[in-house]
Amino acid sequence: MITSLRLEPVTPGNVDAALALRVHPYQEKNVAPVVKSLAEAYAYGETAWPRLIFDGDELVGFVMAFLDIPWDPERDPDDRRSGLWRLNIAADRQGKGYGRFAVDAVRQELARRGAARYYVTWEKGEHSPEEFYLRLGFRPTGEVSGGETVGVLEI
Ligand SMILES: CC(C)(COP(=O)(O)OP(=O)(O)OC[C@H]1O[C@@H](n2cnc3c(N)ncnc32)[C@H](O)[C@@H]1OP(=O)(O)O)[C@@H](O)C(=O)NCCC(=O)NCCS
Repeated sequence: MITSLRLEPVTPGNVDAALALRVHPYQEKNVAPVVKSLAEAYAYGETAWPRLIFDGDELVGFVMAFLDIPWDPERDPDDRRSGLWRLNIAADRQGKGYGRFAVDAVRQELARRGAARYYVTWEKGEHSPEEFYLRLGFRPTGEVSGGETVGVLEI
């Protein structure tokens, strides 16, 4: 049973454990490793929102949101979006509700910041997280970004 789920910032004390998080090898094509996400979080500054998912004292996953970025400046500079950038639940901790918790925690953060829509993109194909996102209420917008399906949830 999930007892004490929470998100925590990345700190000097937990960064090594964060870097050691691994999804199943066959899922690695669907999500970047935490080390890449943390490098991007550094580069993107305030528009990246990386957090660790803890169940009690146990680190079970990593989630990163993007906040109010110009989506496709060439097509529409006014189209700024927020959403879920990365989600990595540890291979041996999947299927316990942690992914659902993290998606909802990001929704709450976006709502707090006044966002009306919550975007995500996913790879299709074998072991795709598509069903997970559809189950949580995301609907395809009909767009493809970087080869990935774009989904949206009204907040
Ligand atoms: C996809 C992922 C985040 C799901 O996290 P999780 O903690 O295992 O998912 P949860 O236990 O919260 O599942 C929530 C619901 O989605 C369902 N679900 C989860 N993964 C699913 C999948 N691959 N296919 C179909 N249903 C899935 C669960 O059965 C559960 O259903 P319920 O409504 O009956 O309870 C996790 O498997 C993961 O880290 N995958 C590898 C990386 C990845 O693809 N990340 C997403 C990048 S965009």
